[in-house]
Amino acid sequence: MGSHQAEHVSNGVNAMSGLIPEQVIAEVRERNDIVAVISEYVELRKAGKNWKGLCPFHREKTPSFNVNPEEQFYYCFGCGAGGNVINFLMAVENISFREAVERLAERAGIPVRFENGSPEKTQSGSEKKRLLELHRAAHEFFQNNLFGQSGGLARQYLTARGIQGETARVFGLGYAPAEWRGLLSYLERRGFSEAECLAAGLASEGRGSRCYDRFRGRLMFPVCDGRGQPIAFGGRVLDASQPKYLNSPETLIFTKGNNLYRLDLARRGFREKGFAVLVEGYMDVISLYQAGFDNTVAALGTALTEYQARLLKRFTQEVVIAFDGDAAGEAATWRGLEILRQQGLRVRVAELPGGEDPDTFIRTYGGRAFEELLNKAPGLTEFKLGTIIRRADLSTVDGKVAATGRIIEVLAELDSPVEQNEYLRWAAGRLKISEDVLAAELEARGAKAGIENSSRHRISSKSNNRGDGKDRDGSRKALGVRRRQPSGLQGLSDIEAALLRLLLHHRQLIERVKQVLYPEDFRHPVAQRAMECLLACHEAGHLEHGAAVFDYVKDASVQQLIAGLLTSRTSLPPVQTCMHYVRRLQVMHLKDDLKVLEDQIGQVEQEPVDGRLVSQLSNLLIKYRQLREEISRGIRT
Ligand code: CTP
Ligand code: MN
Repeated sequence: MGSHQAEHVSNGVNAMSGLIPEQVIAEVRERNDIVAVISEYVELRKAGKNWKGLCPFHREKTPSFNVNPEEQFYYCFGCGAGGNVINFLMAVENISFREAVERLAERAGIPVRFENGSPEKTQSGSEKKRLLELHRAAHEFFQNNLFGQSGGLARQYLTARGIQGETARVFGLGYAPAEWRGLLSYLERRGFSEAECLAAGLASEGRGSRCYDRFRGRLMFPVCDGRGQPIAFGGRVLDASQPKYLNSPETLIFTKGNNLYRLDLARRGFREKGFAVLVEGYMDVISLYQAGFDNTVAALGTALTEYQARLLKRFTQEVVIAFDGDAAGEAATWRGLEILRQQGLRVRVAELPGGEDPDTFIRTYGGRAFEELLNKAPGLTEFKLGTIIRRADLSTVDGKVAATGRIIEVLAELDSPVEQNEYLRWAAGRLKISEDVLAAELEARGAKAGIENSSRHRISSKSNNRGDGKDRDGSRKALGVRRRQPSGLQGLSDIEAALLRLLLHHRQLIERVKQVLYPEDFRHPVAQRAMECLLACHEAGHLEHGAAVFDYVKDASVQQLIAGLLTSRTSLPPVQTCMHYVRRLQVMHLKDDLKVLEDQIGQVEQEPVDGRLVSQLSNLLIKYRQLREEISRGIRT
């Protein structure tokens, strides 16, 4: 699970703490059957009591994604993703808690009332809805035009570029006629005001505040959200005039850097092909799609943003960059590589011949050739080294030195010594310098970096103990990219797991356990937070609903733990053993405390007594006695 998921989960808590009433959340959860909702994204098959399918959150060939209809939650044995129907929608659509609740409410026909939501919030919600409606209407207009009388030229243009009618329909292409008030009068007839068209960026204001259509005589490309609804448009001229493309400005529903062109269509392709193809232009996506490369998205004419990379990471683990074969494309590739790599994505680069973009390439050389380009696309390191050497001026000493420096930087990033050695040999050969010299340079740099490295590792093992999810980045650096292994749960004891499992399955036990056990009594931080969630859910009176507890979960590791415990296939310990586990947990603490006590006493005996130490010791003794008392109370009940 990516760190962004944790962010969204925490959005949930914001939304939860007041704005959407608890009962509405509960109702939304109950009226949206999780199997039905997930089926809209994942092909599910019945397997015993549960449903099973291919996990939408990581790539797999055999299904390990489970949906439990009885308890209304999902869990993936492969990647540890899990939660209730709201969590699922948040994760799969990459939306906030509030948005997920709103969508599910809409789906079930529940009016969402806001408890003490600010008027602006509610207003912006309805404004967004209105904007979406306006875009839907505008899209209709553009489409009608493309396939109607006025669309002759645009259709001709598409034909000339080899785009079939069916493809144009899949992408919802349209045509904005060369009129000043074509769209405007259409939208006015549909009940939208000029002001609304202006705010949507579909109209511009001229002299004397007269409005006119922003897009005129252009082939229109709808930009869609995750659900395939148009939220903006790009428009291309049909000739060589400028500007070639005109795009909607950012609005309440459209942020450029947060969108990937046709991610909604390509998601399925990512899953089937196992990787994403990232291109620069609208036409590249469309052309590739038509040739069977339905796993293609574009970054919308901007430099790839971190947000877009995270979005990709949600749906795939590997990205092949296929930017234009020119200097600008190469620079963009270089930047894109870093951004994608930082999200833990595997990255490769399809190197297009100079002057080609994927669209022209595929039309000139065919799909087979593009397939080959993808297959032989070099990985990150190979691409970087290749580019450095290609660009270097090896005829001068300065040129060689500069190239060597850059190559050392790339080699130093590699975790595996074997890999490092292989690339070193290759690079030395290409640079025409001795391997030993290059190795010595690398070592000199490594000695410096080694110091940084070891201190970083120490820090990361520390954050491991905190178990706050931050450990994952640390371990990823040390071990190379690893996603499958849920690592936030290391060190969770069987006792803690068993107790939480019992409480999750027999929630009436909570009333009793909470008398004698505090969340802090759980030693593992994730278990501790899971207990806090259980208690919060219990306090709110929602415990009778299986999946309700997920509404109280603040972060991904807790979500994963709870889903995992609910799904565990080992037999559940009998209810009667609950207090037994509570006592074992307390004894565990007791042993820890006693150990500390002993250590400290040992120290005091060696060193001259200091006041602070004495008070620490007496505190521990008090705690020890309290605990002992609590345990005996626990045994009596
Ligand atoms: N773009 C833009 N505004 C421009 C030029 C480009 O928004 N004035 C964006 C568009 O999304 C475009 C992408 O950048 O698709 C790539 O630009 P370019 O390579 O120039 O266009 P192509 O996609 O190759 O378009 P075409 O093949 O139609 O010329
Ligand atoms: Mn092009």
